[in-house]
Amino acid sequence: MEAELDCPIDTTTEKARNSIIVVASLVSKLHNLGGICRTSEIFNAELLVVSNLKVKDEMAFTGTSVTAEKWMPMREVKELDLIDYLTKMKADGYSLVGIEQATNSQSLDKFQFPKKALLLLGKEKEGIPASYLHLLDHIVEIPQFGVIRSLNVHVSASLILWEYTKQMVSAE
Ligand SMILES: C[S@@+](CC[C@H](N)C(=O)[O-])C[C@H]1O[C@@H](n2cnc3c(N)ncnc32)[C@H](O)[C@@H]1O
Repeated sequence: MEAELDCPIDTTTEKARNSIIVVASLVSKLHNLGGICRTSEIFNAELLVVSNLKVKDEMAFTGTSVTAEKWMPMREVKELDLIDYLTKMKADGYSLVGIEQATNSQSLDKFQFPKKALLLLGKEKEGIPASYLHLLDHIVEIPQFGVIRSLNVHVSASLILWEYTKQMVSAE
């Protein structure tokens, strides 16, 4: 697939990892990307996908990643190639899980994660564009009880990764 050829991969370590891929190609703020990298590393995710690997050289990224990028395998997939990439990963057996507030979303407190999962995070302002929704196997929403409309995307990724980890650890 062409998206594969265009995607530089940077696999920094070879240790065994959980079969969860975090796709942050739609996330643009460097401090969010750095935080997502740190959380992905801590929860031993298989791969973090970003739209540009050069983010690793930016201080706004490293300020929140605190060296996680040295240990976290990362791959570049531009937004233009994202549909192709998601299609390929689905064919490779990953369940595509959109992290979003949507009319057909399932609540995180009832959701059973597939072991082999790919998390798609939304844009900071618009969320996940409608053009991706048909591809997703599930949409998972974190229940909210306050007034503010949505969580920060890094906070959302952290809550989801912890729930995935908890489920996988208790299934062992
Ligand atoms: C700030 S939100 C996007 C804006 C939001 N869709 C809105 O209309 O206000 C950025 C991203 O964080 C994640 N997110 C935020 N709150 C969430 C929640 N309660 N459940 C699941 N994902 C959430 C989603 O990936 C979302 O696309």
